[in-house]
Amino acid sequence: DHPTRRDFLYVATGAVAAVGAAATVWPLVSQMNPDASTVAAGAPIEVDLTPIAEGQDIKVFWRGKPIYISHRTKKQIEEARKVPVSSLPDPQSDEQRVKPGHDQWLVVVGICTHLGCIPIAHEGAYDGFFCPCHGSVYDTSGRIRQGPAPTNLPVPPYTFVSDTKIQIG
Ligand code: FES
Repeated sequence: DHPTRRDFLYVATGAVAAVGAAATVWPLVSQMNPDASTVAAGAPIEVDLTPIAEGQDIKVFWRGKPIYISHRTKKQIEEARKVPVSSLPDPQSDEQRVKPGHDQWLVVVGICTHLGCIPIAHEGAYDGFFCPCHGSVYDTSGRIRQGPAPTNLPVPPYTFVSDTKIQIG
């Protein structure tokens, strides 16, 4: 008799079911809070990138945090890359913040590094993110450019499981 093992299997199955349900209702994900069992399990989430048109962003939730996924235009990538890295408040190249071969995709934690408000996508002087709380402005790489926020928006751990799908966590 292995009650501990049975409990573990039950939890694992629940987490898989939660991920499946989230994928099925994808268009609503940006409006929804995470499924309670997914949060409890701290499970990774998979996100299908196919429906995100160039120039669009979506917001998903992972471990209760808003995550922005931006399908960047060529112009947005160029803007992120033409600025001298040494001139940035938190110097990081755009290449360091995206995955090789997937330059068009920016994935960042959507929590302002100043005092934790949620910045708005496609706002502000750098066409990146704007935090309405105290006016921090992030660029198309999610790097802080103006305002009180001390550091760039963090990039969460994620991998490409295919050309059109990422796993966060
Ligand atoms: Fe974003 Fe203060 S919390 S600027």
